[in-house]
Parts: sequence; structure tokens; C-alpha cells
Amino acid sequence: MSQRITYTNQVGATLDHVLASTDYSSLHIIADENTATLVLPRISCDAAHKVPPIVIPAGDHNKNLDTLSQVWSALAEQNATRHSLVLCVGGGMVTDLGGMAAATYKRGIAHINVPTTLLGAVDAAVGGKTGINFNGLKNEVGTFTPATDVIISTCYLDTLPLEQLLSGYAEMIKHAMLDNHHTFNALTANKPSFNQPEVLLKQVETSVNVKNRIVALDPHELGLRRALNLGHTVGHAIEEIALKRAKPIPHGYAVAWGLVTESVLSHILLKFPSNDLHRLATFVRDLYGAPDITCDDYPTLLDLMRHDKKSHHGEISCALLRQCGDAVVDNTITDEDMKVALDITRDYMGK
Ligand code: GLY
Repeated sequence: MSQRITYTNQVGATLDHVLASTDYSSLHIIADENTATLVLPRISCDAAHKVPPIVIPAGDHNKNLDTLSQVWSALAEQNATRHSLVLCVGGGMVTDLGGMAAATYKRGIAHINVPTTLLGAVDAAVGGKTGINFNGLKNEVGTFTPATDVIISTCYLDTLPLEQLLSGYAEMIKHAMLDNHHTFNALTANKPSFNQPEVLLKQVETSVNVKNRIVALDPHELGLRRALNLGHTVGHAIEEIALKRAKPIPHGYAVAWGLVTESVLSHILLKFPSNDLHRLATFVRDLYGAPDITCDDYPTLLDLMRHDKKSHHGEISCALLRQCGDAVVDNTITDEDMKVALDITRDYMGK
């Protein structure tokens, strides 16, 4: 899988350079209604301002077949050919859907990602997954098609509320745990550097390198890449229960709490060190507070986990850690262990 990643806060100049060294017949820009007004005008790249962007509605609920079809139609209206190039400017919704539009239009044209959210930069825009939600299921239809280039910056994050920044930060905590002790300790030693774009950019680079190393070994998620699901079996269930109650929470908040629960399970089942568990739990509690769950929610949560994409034969399955940097994928978890881990998580979070 070949994907060039550039870390820079000189996005316009980098894009100029990338476009100058790329062979394409026409450029087509996909942005959502937020990034089209808040970010695109700030990218000082002449080529990117010569074409009208294809603007799609914002939000994960619009990451669907209707929007994908609108993009295919717009590409056809703009006379895109097999040698055209798509530029996706936005968060995960835009890079997932725009990447899929590019991957499928005329059987596949090249695309470049410029992620504009922290979550997009550290996760969605890199690693080649594209997709849309379908049949009520997230990312149910998609492809593995890496963007040829990803230009990662932190200079547009000032357009985002703190909640969204924290949401992306949870994936950085996950990557630090998957990397090693040193990265985990360094990341959890201080509060996030959201108001220091250059410091944050360096941390984002460290974080994306962890994901890249794993993806390079298993691009199609046949085994090892499932380590990137750390925190997500429990996290998705917490996210979905919140959605069912019409009180949605940002993905990363649910992942952060999921990381704590799955680290408790890692401690119980694989002897993950208690001092690291304590360090993680304290860090997550201070940044994200407590999840809105009680023991009355356990049956629903366990049911959601059993029906998670990562489960097999109705059993709950999680990626866990022996220690930071030593992941074990596909661990089957009993209901009893999961309930204990949820209890301990709630204690840690002060709930
Ligand atoms: N978001 C996890 C992965 O890309 O595999």
C-alpha cells in the first residue's frame, strides 16, 4: 500500500508541490458545508481555487448512498475522467465518502486527503479505508483504497470545538498504548497541546506512524490491524447506547472510556500492569469525565457488543494488551468479566 504522508502547516504550498508532481487530467474537490466555508478559503493553493468544490452535507448521518450518488453525479457533471484527481478536504466523513467516490468512479481514480479534524488526521484519512454507512450499520460498504497523498496539518483545528479535539485525542491515546511505554507515558504526562499547533503536529506524526506501521503489516485487516480496534468494542457500545437515548456523544469519548474498560480486561486476563491502568484511567477521567451508564445498562451494552462487527458467533471479542506495545487480537470475553470491567471503569471514572 503506497501512501505518501506529509506533516506540515504550510498546506497550500505542499498541495501546490504535490499537484505539480502528479499526473492528472482534472482536479475535483470534495468538501462538506463546514470545510467549504471554514477551511477551503484558507488553503492558499491556486489550483484548488480554480474549480468549484463539490459540497456535501456535513455529519456522519449523511455518510450514505444518497450523498455518494450526489458526488458521482457531480463528478460526471464536471466531466471527470479516469485520469482525474479527487481532493477530499474535511473530517472522516468527507475522506471516507470522498475516498469511496474516487475508488469507485470509473472503476477508480486517484485521491488526495487533506484531513481537517484531529480524528480525521490521526485515523480516518490514513490507512486506506473508505466507506459509507448502509442498512443502519456504520462503514458497512467500502473499499481499501489508500489516498495517494495525505497532507496532515494542525493549523485548521482552531475551527473545531474542544469536544471534537478531545474526540480525536482518544485515538492518539490508543495509538500511544499500541506503540510502547515511552510514547504512552509521554502522551499522558501533560494535558493536550491543542493551542500549540506545532507541538501537536509532532505528536500527531508519532501517532500516525504507529497506525501506519500496523497497517503496513496487515493492510486488509486480516489479523494484526484488528489491534487498532483497541477500546472500540466497548466504545462502540457506549456510543450506540447514547445514540439510542437521543443523547449522542463524540466517538472519541466513547473510545476513551472503552480503552479504560478494555485495559481493565487486559489486566484481569493478560496481566496488563496495574500502574499503567491507573495512569490511563486517571488521564481519561480528567479529560473526559464519566460515561452516563449504570449497571441497569449492562444487558443492552453486552447485547450491542455481541452484535458488534468484531464479534464472532455472538461472543464478545476485544483486542487487548499484555503491556503497552504488545497487543493480542480476538480475545473472547465472558459476560461476567465484562460486567466486572464495566464496574471498575465506573469506579475509576467516579460514577
Ligand atoms: N480505524 C481503524 C483502522 O483504520 O483500521
